[in-house]
Amino acid sequence: MHAAIYPGSFDPMTYGHLDIIKRAAGMFDEVIVSILDNRQKTPLFSVDERVNILKEATKDIANVKVESFSGLLIDYAKEKNINIAIRGLRAITDFEYELQISQTNRLLSKGALDTIFLTTSLEYAYLSSSSVKEIASFGGDISRCVPSFIEDMVYEKYGISKNEAER
Ligand code: PNS
Repeated sequence: MHAAIYPGSFDPMTYGHLDIIKRAAGMFDEVIVSILDNRQKTPLFSVDERVNILKEATKDIANVKVESFSGLLIDYAKEKNINIAIRGLRAITDFEYELQISQTNRLLSKGALDTIFLTTSLEYAYLSSSSVKEIASFGGDISRCVPSFIEDMVYEKYGISKNEAER
């Protein structure tokens, strides 16, 4: 069985992430979306909230599983006996960071963990979780960035009702 891990913060998941998940699910028998539980960052959504969001967003894709992990990705991947990580590349600006992570993972895992990059579909190239949070915090329109149920949850975090937000 060919399985892959799609690791990330997903705070929150965007249409860009969902696009990568769907495409990866078409390539592998199983895709495990793995949310990093990073104690050093203060996320907008807790790990449990993010797991639930991802589960809801991917409920119709049979070969996608959602989990969380802490610590090193290579240790988590080894535990799962998976040797492929998927990452999305939006633009050249992502490249340096992604190259560093993937090379570090190959080195640390002694070649056991490889990364496959999928280029983001053009319509989502501009999207990032941080910009979604920034726009929403000022009441801006994020309807083109995230599914509607996530939109509600993001505005709620900032104490803004969807009707108040610019449309
Ligand atoms: O969505 P993000 O925040 O860009 O995802 C980054 C992530 C989670 C893929 C990366 O930070 C990660 O794998 N962290 C786990 C710790 C680790 O393995 N670090 C070594 C590689 S630099």
